[in-house]
Amino acid sequence: MTQTVVITGFMGCGKSKVARELAECLNVTMVDLDERITAHTGRTPAQLIDEDGEGAFRTIETETLRDVLESREAGVIALGGGAWIEQANRTLIEDYGCASVWLDVPFEVCWARIEYAAEDRPLGRTKNQAAALYERRRPVYQLAGTHIQVAGKEELDDLISVIRSALSAG
Ligand code: S3P
Repeated sequence: MTQTVVITGFMGCGKSKVARELAECLNVTMVDLDERITAHTGRTPAQLIDEDGEGAFRTIETETLRDVLESREAGVIALGGGAWIEQANRTLIEDYGCASVWLDVPFEVCWARIEYAAEDRPLGRTKNQAAALYERRRPVYQLAGTHIQVAGKEELDDLISVIRSALSAG
C-alpha cells in the first residue's frame, strides 16, 4: 500500500494503538503526531495547550503534520483528537492523497479511558467539557473517507481486519 493512512477520532478512541498495529501489519512506519510534537518541541500537547494556548498548539500541530507528510516517512499516522477538526489539516491530508479512517467509539467508552489515563488532556478535563466537544466534532469526523464503528470491546486483530477490508474496498 503506497497511500498513507491517517487515523482520526475522539480522545480515548484508540488511535495510537490501532495505528501502531495497522502499521505493523502493513509493514510500514507509524508516526504518532502527538509524540512527534513532543519530540520536536520538548513539550507535550497538554503542556503546549496549558502554557501557550490551544491556538499556538494548533499551529505547531499543522506544521508537524506538514513535515511528516512532506517527508513521506509514514505509512500510518495517528492524529491527535483535534487535528482532523482543523480544515488546514484536512486539506493537507487530502493534498497528500492520504486515506482517512475515523474510529467512531461511543462517548462513554472514550470518557472511561480519558478519566483513567495517566495522560493529561486539557480539552477533556471534565465529563461535560469532553461530551460537548465530542458532539461538536462528530460531524467533522464524519468527513473522513472511512467510518469504522467501534464498540470498544473488539479484539485489536479483528478491528485491524475490518479496517484493512474497508480500506481495500474504498
Ligand atoms: C486533543 C487530543 C490529544 C492532544 C491534545 C488535543 C484534542 O490527543 O492532541 O491534548 O483536541 O482532542 P489524543 O486524541 O491522542 O488524546
